[in-house]
Amino acid sequence: MLKKREQWGSKIGFILAAAGSAIGLGNIWKFPYIAGENGGAAFVLVYLVFILLIGTPVLIAEILLGRETQRNSIGAFKQLASNKLWMIVGGMGILAGFVILSFYSIIGGWAVGYVVEAINGTFASFETPEASGDLFGQLIGNAKWVIGMHTIFFGLVMSLVYFGVKRGIEFGSKILMPLLFVILVILMIRGITLEGAEAGLNFMFKPDWSKITGDSILIALGHAFFTLSLGMGAMLTYGSYMPEDSDITIASLQIVFLDTLIAIMAGIAIFTAVFASGLVPGSGPGLIFQTLPIVFAEMPGGYIFGILFFLLLSIAAVTSAISLLEVVVAYFVDELNWSRKKAVFIFGGIIYLVGIPSGLSFNLLSDYTFNGLNFFDLADFLASNILLPLGGLLISIFVAWIWGFEKAIPALLKGATKMSHNNMVLMSWKFFLKFVAPVFIFIIFLHSIGLF
Ligand code: TRP
Repeated sequence: MLKKREQWGSKIGFILAAAGSAIGLGNIWKFPYIAGENGGAAFVLVYLVFILLIGTPVLIAEILLGRETQRNSIGAFKQLASNKLWMIVGGMGILAGFVILSFYSIIGGWAVGYVVEAINGTFASFETPEASGDLFGQLIGNAKWVIGMHTIFFGLVMSLVYFGVKRGIEFGSKILMPLLFVILVILMIRGITLEGAEAGLNFMFKPDWSKITGDSILIALGHAFFTLSLGMGAMLTYGSYMPEDSDITIASLQIVFLDTLIAIMAGIAIFTAVFASGLVPGSGPGLIFQTLPIVFAEMPGGYIFGILFFLLLSIAAVTSAISLLEVVVAYFVDELNWSRKKAVFIFGGIIYLVGIPSGLSFNLLSDYTFNGLNFFDLADFLASNILLPLGGLLISIFVAWIWGFEKAIPALLKGATKMSHNNMVLMSWKFFLKFVAPVFIFIIFLHSIGLF
């Protein structure tokens, strides 16, 4: 415990790393496909409301717990709570990290595999939009391809976590995230200028409230947590490497802004292309893999853009996956004095294996379903829609009601700028964390288990 704890190299280092965790497959792959399945604009609005009312206050709380205790997700509760049962929240987070990373790596692997397809020039040979769907179906139907790519992706994640916080994580985020942003801007402009793009924009921005169901509200809530990396101690762990002289409120707002911006941009790029090529928005997890290659096939410079896009998507996925593994590793390194190497290899190895059935859900195990959900869907549902919101509920209750604002506010204001001392800002944070977040999450849970 007395080892000097690693810290980010700079203030901006934290923001970049946390944004690197937040921005990932959730924004570019998951957000468009679940928005597509849940009716578009109305879902997008519900998601935005949850980001603002629930995600942001919980994000501040989670980073604060980490910075204040300088501990991992279990250690933080151990230090602050007199009732040791609160450590279960940290333990649940570690479980969520296991489950999320196991299926996340499958999609990360698809992204890596698509870099190879892009380099081989496969997209240019598409004669019809359907050809893109056929390629996708063929690739994910091939268990060897899926597991092979999962292995490559996971190997990358493990080696970066092994090298430690600074060298491994900060580096990736500094140069590559801005580049991803530029590519998305280009794809978005390309999308908007396609013939028939308007239908895509309408789908994303003109709400049809009849499409909203109880289920889609739960999915929107789960996604608000998923996309901000909340509810399982990842942001807590990253906050624990944060120096005391930085402003948590501002950092959180910046992370939320960047994360949301990227998701909306990805949505525009994808839905314009979906409607312009006559595809359907509700086609599920394959949506971006089926849609964007059609765009690349036809656009000037599409060969290069295709490679760059899937490369950057893979990197964005890696910087997020790192934060998932880091939560698990930090616990064993800090609390049980394991070496980083041992923790990375043992738990990395286990999570890699747990990922295999998720990968096989698209091929060999596709007949095994439970309530219509295959193994992959189940892992996603359990983690994103149950464990993360539950974690968020408990974190907000803990900070607002148990640890208490008398202690939390002075901790929050360490290193804070004038803006964050503003009474309105503090009052809103308190109000949303104490009442809005717990009540909303609780009601949505009750509804989703069919209580009303
Ligand atoms: N937020 C990431 C994304 O959108 C995924 C992620 C990384 C995550 N760390 C997390 C999700 C922790 C939940 C919890 O792709």
